[in-house]
Amino acid sequence: MKNKLITNVIRLKKVDSTNSYAKRIISEKTIKEGTVIISDFQSSGRGQSKSKWESKSGENLIFSIILKPGFLAPEKQFILNELIALSLIDYLSELIPEQRVQIKWPNDIYVENNKIAGILIESIIKGVEIEYSTVGIGMNINQITFSDNIPNPISLKALTNREFDIDECLNNLCNKLSERYNQLKKEDFLKINSDYINSLYRFNTIAEYIISNTILKARIIGISEYGKLILLTENQKEIECDLKELEFII
Ligand code: BTN
Repeated sequence: MKNKLITNVIRLKKVDSTNSYAKRIISEKTIKEGTVIISDFQSSGRGQSKSKWESKSGENLIFSIILKPGFLAPEKQFILNELIALSLIDYLSELIPEQRVQIKWPNDIYVENNKIAGILIESIIKGVEIEYSTVGIGMNINQITFSDNIPNPISLKALTNREFDIDECLNNLCNKLSERYNQLKKEDFLKINSDYINSLYRFNTIAEYIISNTILKARIIGISEYGKLILLTENQKEIECDLKELEFII
């Protein structure tokens, strides 16, 4: 694979979770930045907030990439979420330019009101440094039918009526990732933040949310330094929420 970021690709037929596999190899020996673990199937694919990630065997892109962003202060790690989400946006908006591809905070990738991809980043912090970040990406590619417990899924095939080559998707997505990672190394934080806000689903739009068990109308007005979502409620009250405190009503 020709890519400046990818140094090694571990291909598996089946695994519990590519993120868990990555964390196991990290605990055993020193792993090179840019190691990718890709699998046809995960028996215990994991999502954010202890959710599951389900994917039919061989039909989708499920992989993890190991990064060593030692140059990034641990308190700034939300920028890594932003950057990975943006690389998915870069990739998808080139592939399906007629569709509106956006980031549903913090890092779900949506096409209109449907989820096409999810990201799970798990970092190991040693002292004041991020030693490793395992970036797990699940993108629905050729799967057409989904189980009922997956909320509003969509795939590239469902959107375009054509079949995609998974390896080609991996390669092209990793090229976008590599470009964005260089932007991070150059500490181009302002540009990354503004690109993230420009791609944010429902930014500056009044919509309904469940916040602390109450349905509220509010609009997203920004992201805090630590990655919390900042909303302005109907009665002009500014609130900051983390993932546990807020649910989008879609
Ligand atoms: C989410 O939407 O909640 C995040 C989903 C992340 C899924 C990917 S698939 C590859 C990697 N391995 C996992 O177990 N999870 C991530």
